[in-house]
Amino acid sequence: MDSGSADDDRINDESRIPGQPTTHLAVLLQEALEFLQVRPDGVYIDATLGGGGHAFEILKVLRQGGGKLLGIDRDPAALAVARERLRGFEEQLIVQPGNFAEIDRLHASSGLPPADGLLADLGLSSLQLEDAARGFSFREEGPLDMRVDPSGDLTAEELVNYASERDLADLIYKFGEERHSRRIARAIVKARPIRRTTELAQVVTRAIPSRAGLYQIHPATRTFMALRLAVNRELENLEAFLAKALGVLAPGGRLVVLSFHSLEDRLVKRAFQEFKRLGRARVLTRKVVRPSEVEVRTNPRARSAKLRAAEKAEVGE
Ligand SMILES: C[S@@+](CC[C@H](N)C(=O)[O-])C[C@H]1O[C@@H](n2cnc3c(N)ncnc32)[C@H](O)[C@@H]1O
Repeated sequence: MDSGSADDDRINDESRIPGQPTTHLAVLLQEALEFLQVRPDGVYIDATLGGGGHAFEILKVLRQGGGKLLGIDRDPAALAVARERLRGFEEQLIVQPGNFAEIDRLHASSGLPPADGLLADLGLSSLQLEDAARGFSFREEGPLDMRVDPSGDLTAEELVNYASERDLADLIYKFGEERHSRRIARAIVKARPIRRTTELAQVVTRAIPSRAGLYQIHPATRTFMALRLAVNRELENLEAFLAKALGVLAPGGRLVVLSFHSLEDRLVKRAFQEFKRLGRARVLTRKVVRPSEVEVRTNPRARSAKLRAAEKAEVGE
């Protein structure tokens, strides 16, 4: 297994079983529920509703006591899938399209009181990664799009074809932690225009020295990861979310974040340390929580997942 840190295995979709219908399996489901301590009459927010996997289990508890769940996602297609999966929970569920970077505004406009729990399961769902038309996968022939929110103003195609060689190299290095970033950027600029995912994957593969075939991941993994993070401003959004998260929680409310990439986890870890330092929250996960071997065996995409949880301080704590 690659020991590098561009470890979002959801993009390295070797675990996909050809011909099998695509579903998204909720990652670290039991662990997330335990940290959230869902109360039947409580108020919860799922900031990344996705396929509705975590939400389904939360809603089952809320149905017993009249609690509410605010479900947010940036991708209207994900919300459509979630609505379908969560049919029957209309009494408990409020669905809001939006970017979790604006969690404060989204929560305020829902009219709900401060929440008892807030969950963010970062990254993309299998449904998005495996939809060739979205352009996230280097294995599937598709347009170089990569926008989580299809109304977003920047696509991967624009970055690949119009960014300067230097900016491309910098972003592939920074977001992909790719040590061959300069070679890759040079090859991309030379091969322009590049319009399709598989074209880009070939250009990147050819740019990397062949001894790097020792790579346990596809040579284009890190470059695709970098473009995706840049197109969707994923790290910026996460920082904004973390800065606002405690503001939507009631005292004693819990924040649970699942990340799949070392750069994301670093931001979460730092934010939690800062909450603790300022006395704003108690960190519940002294060590990061990882999926069990059993979970990874049944859902290989879970293998890079990391869960951290914190509890907002009681007033005057
Ligand atoms: C890993 S999936 C969530 C899966 C979900 N927990 C489940 O069990 O089905 C992540 C979801 O977050 C959404 N997302 C990514 N960035 C977002 C953002 N900044 N704001 C809101 N949703 C976002 C994606 O569209 C995707 O549907």
